[in-house]
Amino acid sequence: MSVIQILDKKFEPYISYNEIELAIDKMAKKINDELKDDLPVFLMILNGSFMFGADLMKRIDFPCEVSFVKVASYAGTKSTEEVKELIGLNEDLKGRNVVIVEDIIDSGLTIDGILKDLKNKGVKSVKISTLLLKPKAFKGSYDIDYVGMEIPNDFIVGYGLDYNQLGRNLKDIYKIVE
Ligand code: IMP
Ligand code: MG
Repeated sequence: MSVIQILDKKFEPYISYNEIELAIDKMAKKINDELKDDLPVFLMILNGSFMFGADLMKRIDFPCEVSFVKVASYAGTKSTEEVKELIGLNEDLKGRNVVIVEDIIDSGLTIDGILKDLKNKGVKSVKISTLLLKPKAFKGSYDIDYVGMEIPNDFIVGYGLDYNQLGRNLKDIYKIVE
């Protein structure tokens, strides 16, 4: 692995696919222990979580459903409010146990919006899994159940994460060179 260029920015190797896999192994073990009797729906938040979601699901050893959604943002009724809504959902989540699968939680606003939407849909329970968390940026008032790795507030790409839609295909994770 060496320094790469994406558009105007340089990125250096940061987290290898090997380390990513070890983190996912641990998360999957915990999820397999805790949710095996829940018949959950794993809700992959696209686009970012497509690689993580695939690697996580290969390690889940109990009956479950998998669904793929995107998050749409639009201005709410109050001027400062930004409403987030799940789009592309095919199944009725009423009364279901849902596990959100996210690539990275930064400020936490995206998941906050998803939680509100899921509550409106009448889900039974929600668990949150994220490969990466930036604890210093996180402003949410909810618990995150499964975290692969905590990282500083650096901008990263690879393994599903993008810079202006580029870099999602990289197998490893790279960090911006300031
Ligand atoms: P939040 O709403 O601030 O928690 O932001 C979450 C979303 O921002 C993630 O789902 C990513 O799409 C994006 N994001 C946050 N940090 C990064 C990063 O370092 N690289 C690429 N995308 C990021
Ligand atoms: Mg994302």
